[in-house]
Amino acid sequence: MIVNGDNFNIINPALFKHSVEGIRQSIATPDSFYCSDNVICWNRNLSFMSDESFMEIMRRNATSNVEMTIIWRTYILCHFAKLARRLPGDFVEVGAYKGNTANVIADKIDLASTGKQYYLYDAFEHTGTEVNHAMPEHSSELYTKVKERFSEYPFVKVIKGYVPESFEQGFPEQIAFAHIDLNQAPAEVEALKRIVPRMVSGSVLVLDDYGWWCYRAQKEAEDPLLAEFGLDVLELPTGQGIVIKP
Ligand SMILES: C[S@@+](CC[C@H](N)C(=O)[O-])C[C@H]1O[C@@H](n2cnc3c(N)ncnc32)[C@H](O)[C@@H]1O
Repeated sequence: MIVNGDNFNIINPALFKHSVEGIRQSIATPDSFYCSDNVICWNRNLSFMSDESFMEIMRRNATSNVEMTIIWRTYILCHFAKLARRLPGDFVEVGAYKGNTANVIADKIDLASTGKQYYLYDAFEHTGTEVNHAMPEHSSELYTKVKERFSEYPFVKVIKGYVPESFEQGFPEQIAFAHIDLNQAPAEVEALKRIVPRMVSGSVLVLDDYGWWCYRAQKEAEDPLLAEFGLDVLELPTGQGIVIKP
């Protein structure tokens, strides 16, 4: 199986492509080569690629190559969301953007049948003054598009506004699963101060940007805060940070 997804933070695409091809040609198992989302590896089973229901849901929901590029991250999210499914409490995604990841998770673990709510928070727009960078589909229409995307999912609450102030429009009493992905430290810290106390025992927190060197400010701001709650973060090769509340 050869996978070539997109990668980020490349300044010389031609040299990068040439170098990656050099690695592929120099390994003993070129058919196992994987290169996507800044993860380059070989001689791995890549179990998610043979999970047919997951792959079908990924393909059905993807609206650009980026969604398939981050497939390993999404697989990890689905795994922990499934574990959290049987706990009391609702799901939250802080920084939902187009809603793709939440859509895949909801479909993969059949969240509709659990009675849980899924709260999705985002500004959906970018004025140029925010700490976080703009995304290609930020616009005054994105909120409406995401609402429409979930029109058949009454358990999904799409909340527009800046975190953490937007939590006042709706925020769960108990949280079983939280995915935080704001690409900035100050708002993530404020979100965590409100989310962690509401996380139930066994609940899972996934910090999307935690292990990314370019987003190191998030790790540096969040490690001490989480330590105050007695929590440690496990950094994964995908760049995600995983916290399980005891
Ligand atoms: C990388 S995107 C999220 C991607 C999404 N989690 C996914 O898996 O597809 C980051 C999002 O965080 C949002 N964001 C950043 N800071 C925010 C804040 N303070 N309040 C609300 N949204 C914010 C941005 O608008 C952007 O859409």
